[in-house]
Amino acid sequence: MHLVAPSVLSADFGNLKADIEMINNSSADWFHVDVMDGVFVPNISFGFPVMKTLHKLAKKPLDVHLMIVDPDRYVQAFKDVGAEILTVHYEACTHLHRSIQNIKNTGMKAGVAINPHTPISVLEDTISEIDLVCLMSVNPGFGGQKFIENTYFKIEKLKQLITSKNAKTLIEIDGGVDLNNYTKLIKCGADVLVAGNTVFSASDPSTAISSLKKIQ
Ligand code: DX5
Ligand code: ZN
Repeated sequence: MHLVAPSVLSADFGNLKADIEMINNSSADWFHVDVMDGVFVPNISFGFPVMKTLHKLAKKPLDVHLMIVDPDRYVQAFKDVGAEILTVHYEACTHLHRSIQNIKNTGMKAGVAINPHTPISVLEDTISEIDLVCLMSVNPGFGGQKFIENTYFKIEKLKQLITSKNAKTLIEIDGGVDLNNYTKLIKCGADVLVAGNTVFSASDPSTAISSLKKIQ
């Protein structure tokens, strides 16, 4: 069964507690938490104060997606504020293998995100070490962008790589996931669907989450 991770980036920050409780009481599996530094991506989202609120109120795993340069500096700090899965960008890590080890040494699961322009082949020599690959299906930085169709092809390639190495890596899709494309994403091999706009712009966010959980 696939997992659904609503993206907190699209929540109402004036009412964050209510949105966290909505996710707690919904059929969502994880909280997807987008941290942006204004350098790696052209946007700044939020940092530790918001992470602490999530840690206090969220009753499901925090899946933290770091869109920041030199993420190694903050691995322990994110562990301390409750991250269970910590994802770094391939494009932001000079020594990716070391970054993955650093994350796993803290007891967190290690994720690696790749941008739409980055081929799957760059993960050939690290895939067995990676708990989750986050395939960006938009260019990172903003919620509510249009899904990039080449992602279907990348899911299939990634699935082949994971199978060929006998790895257990989960495939997460991040950006532009909606009620029209989620079934095809799962059929191609996606394990985790991130959804911001589709959940939070719905008249009933909790029903939108249930819809994304349905297998058709
Ligand atoms: C984009 C973020 C996504 C974003 C997804 O940089 O990584 O997690 O919140 O939002 P939607 O689902 O609206 O495309
Ligand atoms: Zn994300």
